Amino acid sequence: MSLSEELYQIENDARRVLNGVSNKETLEEFRLEFLSRQGALSLFLRGLKDASLEDKRTVGKRANDLRANLENDFATKERELSGKNKKKIDVTIPGSRPAQGHLHPLTIVRRDIEDLFMSMGFEIADTPEVEEPKYNFDMVNIPLDHPARDLMDTFWLNDGRLLRTHTSAGQARVMTNRKPPFRILIPGRVFRHEATDASHETTFYQYEGLFVDDKVSLVEFKGIISEILPKLLKKDVKIRMRPSYFPFVEPGVEIDVSCFFCKTGCSVCKQSGWLEVMGAGMVHPNVLRNVNIDPKKYRGFAFGGSIDRLAMLRFGIKDIRLFWSGEPHFLKQF
Ligand code: PHE
Repeated sequence: MSLSEELYQIENDARRVLNGVSNKETLEEFRLEFLSRQGALSLFLRGLKDASLEDKRTVGKRANDLRANLENDFATKERELSGKNKKKIDVTIPGSRPAQGHLHPLTIVRRDIEDLFMSMGFEIADTPEVEEPKYNFDMVNIPLDHPARDLMDTFWLNDGRLLRTHTSAGQARVMTNRKPPFRILIPGRVFRHEATDASHETTFYQYEGLFVDDKVSLVEFKGIISEILPKLLKKDVKIRMRPSYFPFVEPGVEIDVSCFFCKTGCSVCKQSGWLEVMGAGMVHPNVLRNVNIDPKKYRGFAFGGSIDRLAMLRFGIKDIRLFWSGEPHFLKQF
């Protein structure tokens, strides 16, 4: 073994032993074995006196450096073991909390909608976002040549399917093979191919409700939403129905709640004192026939609206685009 290799050997042994040091006794054993006058390094250095000039210079220098390093490490270890290196911990300093995630405002409102309708006997259903035109249009009484097809700007897929433009696309899917009475709620994402602004998004959430029974009417519907809307919006709102048109209901209505942002008219209610929140109506006989439910025996009401809109009203959010922005400043408020 050359002198250089011998020194490597000593270094390796010394590091291994030092690593295993766990108390004052083993530390002293380390000192005796490697750093004392009779220790491995001293013996090695003494042995160098017979070495070549070249070895004296190079290996001798390395051996001295190693000794300095090991003495340094020895001192550090000694301090550690005597406890002098321990940092004092000030237990009175307030801790730093890790940032914690939370529910998105749309999730908060969607879950509230689901809970409230479930408490009234509705079951939750999930229907596809990628839909066949038959479900999005034909089955809900919007035939091919119907002008209502143009009312909704649709994202079409190459295979002839589409991204549903409303959760009403799920009506026929959930009513097929079902015997009345039933109450169903379909929450989900919908898509519209249109320019975005503070109140329009290409992607937003809707909920769709269906209540079919032999004697149900809009009176029951008004009862249900009078109970639910104030709880959803967390405001003591008044409710009004106004005639409107949707191809899949007859008669069709629009539901407004009294504006809670102002007393005398503001930009949110467009000076009207009322806020539009959902569409509804008695399920059109054609829609019932399409799913083999006899419109002479059964009737029902359907309703639907935007979850984003409800969240905006509840939290006072002025721009719908914030929901998908991922902006921490926005999200942290909920
Ligand atoms: N689908 C309608 C919309 O997207 C809402 C609606 C649902 C209206 C059910 C009436 C009945 O605007």
